[in-house]
Amino acid sequence: MFSSQIDFPYRGCYGQVNATAGFFKQLMAKLHLITYGCQMNEYDSERVAGLLAAERYELTQDEDDADLILVNTCAIREKAEDKVFSKLGELRKLKERKPELIIGVMGCMAQLQQGAIQRRAPAVDLVFGSPAIARVAELVERVRRERRPVLETGEGPLVKITARPPSAPRLRAFVTVMEGCEKHCTFCVVPRTRGRERSHPPETVLAEVRRLAAVGCREVTLLGQTVNAYGRDLTPSTDLAALLERVNDVAGIERIRFTTSNPYNLTPRLIRALREVPKVCEYFHLPLQSGSNPVLERMNRGYTRERYLELVGEIRHAEPAMAFSTDLIVGFPGETEADFEQTLDMVERVGYDNVFAFRYSRRPGTPAAAMEDQVADEVKARRNARLLEVAGRVAAARSHGLLGKTLDVLVDGTSRKNAGELSGRTRCNRVVNFDGQGRVSVGDLTRVRVTEVLPHSLRGTLAAHAEEAPCLSR
Ligand code: SAH
Ligand code: F3S
Repeated sequence: MFSSQIDFPYRGCYGQVNATAGFFKQLMAKLHLITYGCQMNEYDSERVAGLLAAERYELTQDEDDADLILVNTCAIREKAEDKVFSKLGELRKLKERKPELIIGVMGCMAQLQQGAIQRRAPAVDLVFGSPAIARVAELVERVRRERRPVLETGEGPLVKITARPPSAPRLRAFVTVMEGCEKHCTFCVVPRTRGRERSHPPETVLAEVRRLAAVGCREVTLLGQTVNAYGRDLTPSTDLAALLERVNDVAGIERIRFTTSNPYNLTPRLIRALREVPKVCEYFHLPLQSGSNPVLERMNRGYTRERYLELVGEIRHAEPAMAFSTDLIVGFPGETEADFEQTLDMVERVGYDNVFAFRYSRRPGTPAAAMEDQVADEVKARRNARLLEVAGRVAAARSHGLLGKTLDVLVDGTSRKNAGELSGRTRCNRVVNFDGQGRVSVGDLTRVRVTEVLPHSLRGTLAAHAEEAPCLSR
């Protein structure tokens, strides 16, 4: 697969390529990718692997074996950055043993910290931000040729990169539909690291979804930092509801998810689409951040707790089976015990299936970093633990509500604990393990009756014979 691609850039140097194994071995190079952070980073890493595959780089899981190591970074919290610097410290030792190794840092931290990365981690040869991803091959080549550090963190045009590394077809895939964010929540670095809000045209997104469907993908997750603001910057303008309808028409795709939505941009059209577009799953990630109105205001979130509850009510009215997840920050500057209690109260009221809890982290250049009344670490830790306890109880109650229900499951592998069992996900994003009885296999959609609720998964039994389940006829 690689040989047909790698001869291209070298044709000029070598004339007719004679494909002996030794020759190709010499040309091949190994790329090791380390990805931190969100789904968008996972998506970007895959694009980079795809672009470099076309240039002769083959992926390796073993960093000792690599000629090029790229670290795709996250800057959302200080802890995420600390992790990257400690990894770069380890890689420096590897480079001492293997001086020809090229180390690159990409993604949000590259964009935020720029030259500071190479000052603190001199083993790093290349630093580039998200806008430069499309030019990764050229940047790596420049480091190789010039043997000096390269820094590329300027603005760049919006490019839809669809390259993927050669790999087994996957049942689920991410598709970035928009880049950047212009919300300016006072705690968040994303507007600085990912730039302005820019949507990819629907035709480009659809072409990518069709390509994925053609190689066996059955579920897509549309990605954007504020995905429900999709399309308003395009000419003619469009919206997420219209995009969902069009993705719904792609044959082969059975499930559509999207993340992340901002309550501020939630429209009646989108709420209607949740009910009317059949492939859109009953799982909604709707970050609340705080349950206290004064805190929400200082965060510049643009909604109140009452408005948020109203939206949840409207969504549940449109789609009663909807499961919600959320992001919550504890210890935002000035957060009092009473503010925090309001957050706990919202967890109970909404009844989240899943809560992602974060301790507030002071990020350089953000307004909240300069606010008075920063909350002590011990207080954040205590509130975080309490929040997780309440969220766990609420989620367990939601899980018990699924007992005895028969749910659609997309089978995506074998159970982690028992290789004799299959595993899959419900439309509401729960993991279910069950005995496939030799009648269903990976890639099938089937129906499973939930017989047991465990802390992190469900167990069930097949609800229908394979031949009775119409959704199995692929
Ligand atoms: N638009 C994206 C935001 C990505 S950041 C989304 O809504 O998913 C993901 C989450 O990280 C945010 O929702 C927020 O809860 C958390 N976060 C962002 N900045 C933070 C900070 N400075 N400290 C702690 N958590 C933060
Ligand atoms: Fe960050 Fe708020 Fe945008 S959390 S990504 S600034 S919606």
